[in-house]
Amino acid sequence: MRTLRTIPELRALLSEARADGSDIGLVPTMGYLHDGHTSLVRRAAAECDQVVTTIFVNPLQFAPGEDLDAYPRDPAGDAEKASAAGTTVLFCPEPDEMYPTGADDVLTVVTVGLLGQAMEGESRPTHFAGVCTVVAKLFNIVGPCRAYFGEKDYQQLASIRRMAADLSFPVEVVGCPTLREPDGLAMSSRNAYLSERERSVAPVLHEALIRGARLILGGETDASAVRAEMARAVRSAPLGELDYVAVADPDTLQPVERCDPGSRLFGAIRFGRARLIDNIAAGEATDAG
Ligand code: PAF
Repeated sequence: MRTLRTIPELRALLSEARADGSDIGLVPTMGYLHDGHTSLVRRAAAECDQVVTTIFVNPLQFAPGEDLDAYPRDPAGDAEKASAAGTTVLFCPEPDEMYPTGADDVLTVVTVGLLGQAMEGESRPTHFAGVCTVVAKLFNIVGPCRAYFGEKDYQQLASIRRMAADLSFPVEVVGCPTLREPDGLAMSSRNAYLSERERSVAPVLHEALIRGARLILGGETDASAVRAEMARAVRSAPLGELDYVAVADPDTLQPVERCDPGSRLFGAIRFGRARLIDNIAAGEATDAG
């Protein structure tokens, strides 16, 4: 595995690889890699000749007061995990490599309209512009590739997919299933913030989504009844503070009034300084036990 820190080095290496006939897989991350990330790398390695994993804690997607400085970091552990999963090129730029004028002075940003305003966008209004801008930069730096993103951040995946289509990036966006701990908690770097007690009740979010999905599969079509059931389930657990639960169209991410098994269920909950998100397709509840 080669580790690179500058854009020209990465471009040069990838143009040589392409000249040799290699195709490229891209796995953008903010590091502190867990099995969810390495499952994306393994999938990319199974489908592409070269796998570029990027590690960059992107300041543009954190609002003032969010956890940019506290965001967990483990560069040595990340390099080991990325390599073991099949990364051939690890790209770890410094902030001034990605934002030469400073992250506070970026004038060109990519927004995705209503997709970025629903759900997560309500409490984090600048988040998806930050995500889409850095991902657009990575797409431009890496060039034609398949890019792998987890469904755990479903709104992010939908936004990036739409951005790639709207702006004609030569990138195939590949969505990959959420990896979960044995008790159902979705894997996330932010799980590291949970105390032991919080960790023990954190699966309540996934359980609430499953309860909502089961209602839908049982024939409930009134989304407000499903939301109420999910909110009740989350509130029944101690320590957590409900941020939102939503029943939405899987493509537009807009809330629906009438739901069906094609609807997608979303939620966010705070435990102290950890804010956890999760989502499932209503149809998934049959597999979720
Ligand atoms: O999902 C993440 O880790 C980040 O939002 C991403 C896609 C790497 C952009 O910074």
